Amino acid sequence: MTDHPKKERTFVAVKPDGVQRSLIGEIIKRFERVGLKLVALKLTVVDEAHIRAHYAQLEKRIQDILVNYMTSGPVVAMVWEGAHAVKLVRKLVGKTEPHSSDVGTIRGDFTLDSYEMSDAESRAVRNLIHASGNVEEATFEIAHWFKPDEITNYKLVQESILYDVNLDGILE
Ligand code: PPS
Repeated sequence: MTDHPKKERTFVAVKPDGVQRSLIGEIIKRFERVGLKLVALKLTVVDEAHIRAHYAQLEKRIQDILVNYMTSGPVVAMVWEGAHAVKLVRKLVGKTEPHSSDVGTIRGDFTLDSYEMSDAESRAVRNLIHASGNVEEATFEIAHWFKPDEITNYKLVQESILYDVNLDGILE
């Protein structure tokens, strides 16, 4: 039997601009309030090799600008778990370019960078946050950023309301 969708996990990083804008709490709040479960969290400064491996699929020019961006300060790495976590988190995060991100998304609500500006300055677009693009990417990224013992398996009380077949045990 395959795992229930509620077991899906995704990797998220608050990028250096998100940390400097004091948006860690706001970003965590958005994932918490939708019903996702935080299973791993750390504030860390990463090196060039780590970022190149994370973005190994991208062309060298983009990798280079992402190395400058992602190693410029601390980032907050997280793993979130819950139903369809990968797609759900991408929906909450919004489009890659903040200028095109919908209002209501993290990138649309909290920043304003555009490819027009970032390309003209040969820098990465400052979009506050990274989120895995698909389940395969999530599996790779979680293992790249966290050791197995840094990820905690536990139950949240609210999961019975979100996922149980019957809503038993509410009425006394
Ligand atoms: S995504 O979100 O991964 O699907 O975005 P994608 O368009 O594939 O971009 C891959 C990552 O490169 C970052 N980046 C840029 N892409 C294109 N042009 C410019 N100028 C640029 N600057 C940065 C983009 O933010 C994606 O990284 P993540 O961490 O996924 O946002």
